[in-house]
Amino acid sequence: MNNLKGIILAGGNGTRLRPMTDLISKQLLPIYNKPMIFYPLSLLIKAQIKEILIITKPDEQENFKKLIGDGKKWNVNIDYIIQPEPKGIAQSFILAKDWLNNSKSVLVLGDNLFFGQGLQVLLSSVFKKNNGATIFGYQVSDPERYGVVNLDKNNQILSIEEKPRKPKSNWAVTGLYFYDERAPYFAEKLKPSARGELEITDLNNLYLKNSNLNIEFLRKGFAWLDTGTPDSLLEASNFVRIIETRQGLSLGDPNS
Ligand code: DAU
Repeated sequence: MNNLKGIILAGGNGTRLRPMTDLISKQLLPIYNKPMIFYPLSLLIKAQIKEILIITKPDEQENFKKLIGDGKKWNVNIDYIIQPEPKGIAQSFILAKDWLNNSKSVLVLGDNLFFGQGLQVLLSSVFKKNNGATIFGYQVSDPERYGVVNLDKNNQILSIEEKPRKPKSNWAVTGLYFYDERAPYFAEKLKPSARGELEITDLNNLYLKNSNLNIEFLRKGFAWLDTGTPDSLLEASNFVRIIETRQGLSLGDPNS
């Protein structure tokens, strides 16, 4: 995939997983039989993305490097940069601006797991689009935990709200995003939110304002799990275990 680079955001404090995250990054914790980051990493590798950047906390970069290395064993190139403080998901584009060097990009959160037949095909079709941004929606029973899309009757996006008290739909915005080369420039225009972060939802709303935001709905047949709490971590492990033992498939394995 020429001129398309992948970013995995694997910083943050993992506050809701303390004390498990006191000594180790959340994205290095196991999901069943692999470190969490293997799942988003294998998603990018299987999507034929050859240039990958992993963004970590300052004191954890060495651990990620030891675990993952430079990517040669998977025929990709993996670079690393540090996020000094968790100042928001959209900050990744400011940090990665030089590395991106005006490329289009796919951002995946290091604690998000995606499964489903047809995911690679869907991603390839999204990557072929020339401009704008694409988010991936997933229907959930607890949308107030996420970015939530407000849709009109033709499924066009009206707005996105970050963790709304009264969600306008059940469609959560997952932690997988495709952006054209303008993402770092738009990110630089963002102001920190009330919680002091450059919000990815604000970046997406900026694309929306420019009439350049698309949505792909991950419907039946896709699974999206995020792993921010002890319960969701255990659920993700059980999910992977069931698929691996029942179907003999290997999830989160860049070689499979
Ligand atoms: O999981 C999808 C959701 O992710 C979206 O629906 C929301 O719109 C989006 O804001 C985000 O919500 P979370 O509350 O789950 O974000 P969280 O702060 O937990 O961060 C997600 C991951 O990104 C986590 O693995 C830590 C990492 N992160 C986060 C921030 C804010 C960083 O590496 N650096 C950061 O500055």
